[in-house]
Amino acid sequence: MAKTTRDEELTRLRRLFAVTDGRLRTLIEAFHGEMRRGLAGEPGSLQMLPAFVDLPTGRERGTFLALDMGGTNVRVLRVDLPGDGSFPGRIEDQFQLNREQVAADGKVLFAAIARFIDRFLRERALSGRYRLGFTFSFPIRQRSIARGDLIAWTKGWTAEGVVGRDVVELLNQALAAEKVSGVRVVSVNNDTTGTLMALAYLDPDCDAGCILGTGTNICYRERTAEIRKPIGPYGRDFMIINMESGNYNAALPRNHYDDLLDRQSENPGLQAEEKMVSGKYLGELVRLVVADLCGRGVLFGGRLPEIFSVREGFGSERLSEIEEDDSPGADDVRSRLRGWGIRPADAGDARALREVVRIVSGRAARVAAATLAATVTINDSSLDGKHAIAVDGSIFHKYPGFKARMEETLRELFGDRAGRVRLAPMQDGSGLGAAIIAAVSADETPGGSEILG
Ligand code: BGC
Repeated sequence: MAKTTRDEELTRLRRLFAVTDGRLRTLIEAFHGEMRRGLAGEPGSLQMLPAFVDLPTGRERGTFLALDMGGTNVRVLRVDLPGDGSFPGRIEDQFQLNREQVAADGKVLFAAIARFIDRFLRERALSGRYRLGFTFSFPIRQRSIARGDLIAWTKGWTAEGVVGRDVVELLNQALAAEKVSGVRVVSVNNDTTGTLMALAYLDPDCDAGCILGTGTNICYRERTAEIRKPIGPYGRDFMIINMESGNYNAALPRNHYDDLLDRQSENPGLQAEEKMVSGKYLGELVRLVVADLCGRGVLFGGRLPEIFSVREGFGSERLSEIEEDDSPGADDVRSRLRGWGIRPADAGDARALREVVRIVSGRAARVAAATLAATVTINDSSLDGKHAIAVDGSIFHKYPGFKARMEETLRELFGDRAGRVRLAPMQDGSGLGAAIIAAVSADETPGGSEILG
């Protein structure tokens, strides 16, 4: 077999990771099919989980606590909802879970979280009684606004004894066990739902929420009549649906690098779309491609540098750093290579690495945009209305050019109408959203405002 050159390899990769216009449109159609199946309760890759809450009116008011647990960073907030169209006030603190708390045992995990809430109250000198809204950024099966059973961990979390359990109950029990008095968890929501609620509190065009961070997911507003699977009591005409779109898996532009990543992951066969677009996996995809190119002798003189030899050892924040350098000679990438102990750090290697990163992140942005395009067109195929999508997450906010590439894809798909779809950056909206949902819950529970006296 003739030896390939570096340029030939890059051309092969560009083809392998390409998402053509035709492929985008096929993906959108397939996504619609999966949405409908999920709403009907038929097997498929989109669970379409009812959130038992509709958009806020903007008149929700009062003081609430919120807990935002999406990754190892946990935030505790006290939120004052004015209910008059002005911006909510908040104070918040951030706490850090360690690996053991995330991986070992649910009791240990929830006890740690209860202690964070306790520390927040003490350090902020807050007394009194509070209702708390809980943002839990994993797939939960809800039976009401106040109950959510964990379906499965994602993003590499493994704490035992939580799958199948109601996380509201687990947190209330932990609060009691840790003797944190005066706090009662009254609602639970996904981070996408929290993000949507936070924007929707002030912006009436908001009808979808999205996270593009360590993990990824989308929620949107649906007519309750369209939810054909049984959901139990719910009195409103519309409901937010947590799609768990990270698990989407139909007509995706997958290749053998995706298969390899999936096989080596904690959850093979699951979260296919998340494994193409989110921060937990983008670095790993690049690493697998780099290792392959090294094996073919067209990168780093055929010797795999240590930084690319450990699973998940090449984090997505490194990809951002690489893409920040758009100099023709990739000078900054070269000095980074040197910093990672790679010598000689030749300009050809640096440029090729940057190109690999661009190829992988370019596909991610196009796939992410297509799933949002599918979301807003499910009930508005010709985009007659305006759609503001609240988007949060490190990839969306921090990855150079990611948002711009998503917007470009939306323009390619929608032409003149692309202006009807707005990607609205939301920073830390999910905590605020949890407080709004706690307020909705208090309004809807008979005697809810008296629960805590
Ligand atoms: C979880 C979702 C979450 C998303 C973003 C995914 O791994 O399954 O529930 O919304 O990450 O945090």
